[in-house]
Amino acid sequence: MADRYAVFGHPVSHSRSPAIHQHFAEQTGQSLVYEAIDPGAEGFTAGITNFFDKGGLGANVTVPFKEAAFALADECTERAARAGAVNTLKVLDDGRLLGENTDGAGLLRDLTHNLGVELGGASVLILGAGGASRGILGPLVDAGIGTLHVANRTVAKAEALAKRFPEMTAVTVSGLDRLPTRAFDLIINATPSSLQGQALTLPSGLLARDTLAYDLAYAEGGTPFTRWAEQRGVPGRDGWGMLVEQAAESFFLWRGVRPETAVLLKR
Ligand code: ATR
Repeated sequence: MADRYAVFGHPVSHSRSPAIHQHFAEQTGQSLVYEAIDPGAEGFTAGITNFFDKGGLGANVTVPFKEAAFALADECTERAARAGAVNTLKVLDDGRLLGENTDGAGLLRDLTHNLGVELGGASVLILGAGGASRGILGPLVDAGIGTLHVANRTVAKAEALAKRFPEMTAVTVSGLDRLPTRAFDLIINATPSSLQGQALTLPSGLLARDTLAYDLAYAEGGTPFTRWAEQRGVPGRDGWGMLVEQAAESFFLWRGVRPETAVLLKR
């Protein structure tokens, strides 16, 4: 029987992860099956435990189960611990579950390798202060960004998130309704606004001609956030590249082989 992997999410039927991993498997000559499983809002722990009991070797975990996966893992990598969230689980040789988070590495690879963004010294604005923001902030700080502003609907959550990164000294926070009046090098939408089909109300002063507006959500033809930037003559990118790159990192963790992402990036 082929080795079994899956992505757990709720909802998950829209997920492109099965197609991405099947492509990686064919490309690298690996025999595996990868399915999408929705265990229901309350069914994550039971569902994934059952999956591993039946021989599953690894899983991706997406919204809203990343914190539950962190709690479930027997041991975690440093980056998963820092994110407080797990998007990749792997059954180790002794049967214990390893938790990893490849989201930040996937984003970094997309920004620096695929899009040519220079993160060293960059001024960065993060919109949102939930699990998605927490998952990407550590790698961005490590990449040497110059300044960071965290804006969130609930300001207290932005403050709490900023405190998790004391090594980053040039940090400011605000509500989404009190954004700075200056332009940023990189603006990342880490709220689920695009998934909800909504555009955030943002002032154009955040954009300069060479700002990159990056949405963690992905959608064929762009998201409300990327369109907001593009309508103002500024490049917008959705999170497709991040999705492909985090999948490649997960595949490498599971199979020890690094797949090529170039074909998928072209979509
Ligand atoms: P996740 O863990 O997947 O990031 P979350 O914990 O629900 O999801 O956090 C989502 C983030 O996006 C939060 O920062 C949330 O703001 P609040 O802390 O004020 O709840 C923000 N968010 C969600 N929907 C939003 C919307 N429509 N507009 C603006 N911010 C939104």
